[in-house]
Amino acid sequence: MPHVRIFDTTLRDGEQSPGATMTSAEKLDVARALARLRVDVIEAGFPAASPDDLAAVRSIADEVGAAPAPGSGLAEPPIICALARASRSDIDRAWEAVRAAARPRIHTFLATSELHMLHKLRMTRTEVLHRVADMVEYARSLCADVEFSPEDAGRSDPAFLREVVALAVRAGATTINIPDTVGYTTPDEFGALIASLRAHVPDDVILSVHCHDDLGLATANTLAGIAAGARQAEVTINGIGERAGNSSLEEVVMALHTRPARFAATTQIDTTQLTRISRLVSTVTGMAVPPNKAVVGANAFAHESGIHQDGLLKHQATYEIMRPETVGAHPTALVLGKHSGRAALAARLGELGYAVEGAALDRVFARFKAIADRRKHITDADLEVIVREDAPETHDAFTLDALHVGCGTLGMPTATVRLRSRHGDVRVQASVGTGPVDAAYKAIDAIVDARATLLEYSVHSVTEGIDALGHVTVRVRDARGRVCHGAGADTDIIVASVQAYLRALNRITVTRTERTRDEAHAV
Ligand code: KIV
Ligand code: ZN
Repeated sequence: MPHVRIFDTTLRDGEQSPGATMTSAEKLDVARALARLRVDVIEAGFPAASPDDLAAVRSIADEVGAAPAPGSGLAEPPIICALARASRSDIDRAWEAVRAAARPRIHTFLATSELHMLHKLRMTRTEVLHRVADMVEYARSLCADVEFSPEDAGRSDPAFLREVVALAVRAGATTINIPDTVGYTTPDEFGALIASLRAHVPDDVILSVHCHDDLGLATANTLAGIAAGARQAEVTINGIGERAGNSSLEEVVMALHTRPARFAATTQIDTTQLTRISRLVSTVTGMAVPPNKAVVGANAFAHESGIHQDGLLKHQATYEIMRPETVGAHPTALVLGKHSGRAALAARLGELGYAVEGAALDRVFARFKAIADRRKHITDADLEVIVREDAPETHDAFTLDALHVGCGTLGMPTATVRLRSRHGDVRVQASVGTGPVDAAYKAIDAIVDARATLLEYSVHSVTEGIDALGHVTVRVRDARGRVCHGAGADTDIIVASVQAYLRALNRITVTRTERTRDEAHAV
């Protein structure tokens, strides 16, 4: 069966979701998890956006894209790809960022729809043709693996699109990606477009599809493209991305996996990693996965109705087209408890793919013990949240030192919050509010002088039971209109709420210094 390459763009298109900004350390964690998932290509970012984006892509190329030591028996690393507009300076930065990888790729793009050429690029068709030829050739002079995307291909004149694609292939593109940039096409249309291009593109050039979900058709369009001959699918974990998002990796992979006779194509993805990586991306981006989300939603394998439960008990296939364990959704056996030691914790974290050592392991172990004192069993899902919540605090402007709240039906809810600044000074503030969380947030606002508006607050339990860890996610908008998220986890949800809010406020500070990308992100 033909192999469909899975090109993951969570770290590039996915990060373009409003408020989904990740720190460089978080990007590296996601890249490591993508390598464990065995994606073929990681689009690690858009280096021209800012020096920090370039550095983040470079560290992924250095570490995740490094060739295994000879004789180690390890699989070859994924291709590490960087996006570049069709300009020499963008292409130079992309190359600088990925060149250390064992298998680097430059991905360059230029719009080809009349609308984009006229209003955005202000270029004629002839100018676009020349630019494509020149820039693909230039990228190819640097890197043997070059991908070209005619942006807004879904709304481009098919004859002109064929001309551009033919030119890009002659100039040296090894992959031609066809984006439905604004999620406009339907599966039959998109499939026909891919089939017509397949007939014009030489067999050794990979045809790729990249679909957005504005009409909820991204996965259907991607699958239609694959059925029509595309051999690379550009996708993101949880389907995050610009506006309504991209085609979701887990949906495309599981459709191919579950319906081999229909698609006659395979991937090399380790499907048992899907649930874990979905949780990881949700945590680091602050974008919750809806319970009814296909494949990775909390309800994806929950059977509520009596008729369904009865059917399942008689035969699993009556109502389940895939097994929860195939996507890693089976409940993990309890792993550790309050008597477990530091070494056992480190070993289990290692098995889960987290190399935690030294001071970080001390912090995680202290958190683990504090939680294990309050609840009997700590599951893998709990451990992942504890590790994720241990984001390096060194750059945090403020950390929580102490918290006390009073609430109930007698009198106004109150909160007293003590924060410690990066420079070591401690400030205390008391406040009243409509509830204990509101009171605590008001106290924090007064200390931090935050001019941020709370946009979203959500809480869910990591595992089941009254003693479960509560996981709180918040989204705030700063005075400049940027959206940042923060997350916190604790068996006490007021503590988790305060941690989440502080992290969001701290992230505003971190991302303010880490990047100037908003202006540069004109893709
Ligand atoms: O949606 C799009 O057109 C893109 C391109 C840069 C491939 O993301
Ligand atoms: Zn896109």
